[in-house]
Amino acid sequence: MITGGEGQLGLALRRVFSRRGEVRAPDLPGLDVTRRDDVMRYVDRFHPDVVIHAAAFTDVDRCEKESETAFRVNEEGSRHVAEAAREGGARLVAVSTDFVFDGRKKTPYAESDRPAPLNVYGASKLAGERAVIESVPGAAIVRTAWLYGPGGTGNFVRSIVAAARSGREMRVVDDQVGSPTLTGDLAEAIHSLVERRGEGVYHVVNAGEATRYDLARAVLDLIGLADVPIERIDSFRLDLAAARPANSALACSRLAELGVPPLRHWREALEEHLTGEETGDV
Ligand SMILES: NC(=O)c1ccc[n+]([C@@H]2O[C@H](COP(=O)([O-])OP(=O)(O)OC[C@H]3O[C@@H](n4cnc5c(N)ncnc54)[C@H](OP(=O)(O)O)[C@@H]3O)[C@@H](O)[C@H]2O)c1
Repeated sequence: MITGGEGQLGLALRRVFSRRGEVRAPDLPGLDVTRRDDVMRYVDRFHPDVVIHAAAFTDVDRCEKESETAFRVNEEGSRHVAEAAREGGARLVAVSTDFVFDGRKKTPYAESDRPAPLNVYGASKLAGERAVIESVPGAAIVRTAWLYGPGGTGNFVRSIVAAARSGREMRVVDDQVGSPTLTGDLAEAIHSLVERRGEGVYHVVNAGEATRYDLARAVLDLIGLADVPIERIDSFRLDLAAARPANSALACSRLAELGVPPLRHWREALEEHLTGEETGDV
């Protein structure tokens, strides 16, 4: 069972897991994770072996203004999914975020680093992690970052492609460092983690790190628009509701314990996404 099955990551998880078994992938409006009874009934009805909780309120700036909803979905909703998985005897993987960190560290964050969210989204996701572990101590929490892939409502890579092709002026921040990650690579790693029965917190991202500006430049190079100019700006000029960590790159320190190989470098994944056969709707 995959919650948030119509989301960007949910779609990739469906592709990977349906090659290996039967998948149920509910999303709004069919299953709202804030409705505890509905979630319990769903799990009781389908008896999944594995639940991957990918549903979330992911709009970081809206979360800042709608904090009650953010906690209702990201904390309470996660608790409901965890309790249902526990009652149904299913293994549980809950997806979380690099935004649980404040970004003051100068090197990539390991699983052992202390979270200290800067914004409501990060705080609600951290509260969700804790609700999951409280309910299901053997659950796996997968923190990931800067996702892009085919399908879903939008992502940074797709926005850059669209802006460049339409000839719009581009301004991109160069003071945020992170770990760009292809949804398909993450979904494969989550599958390996389930097979190897991982428990506790895992960071799972493509290797290497980048600023938003680096990522935008790499996108333009790969789609043959390397000459298109991009203005580099500081984050404060965007005047967004939510603060972002200056550094939220993740180090995948624990995957090796399970014998899961590190994910490939983000540039290689991006190249396949933008120029490979399965470029989808880029
Ligand atoms: N995107 C990133 O860069 C990123 C980075 C780090 C971590 N993550 C985490 O990765 C996971 C997947 O993210 P994503 O990028 O795939 O996000 P997404 O595309 O927004 O997918 C999330 C899905 O959850 C659904 N949802 C929202 N509220 C729900 C509710 N109350 N009940 C059931 N479903 C609900 C959304 O539906 P609607 O679209 O209708 O709201 C959407 O289909 C999330 O846990 C997110 O926090 C994402």
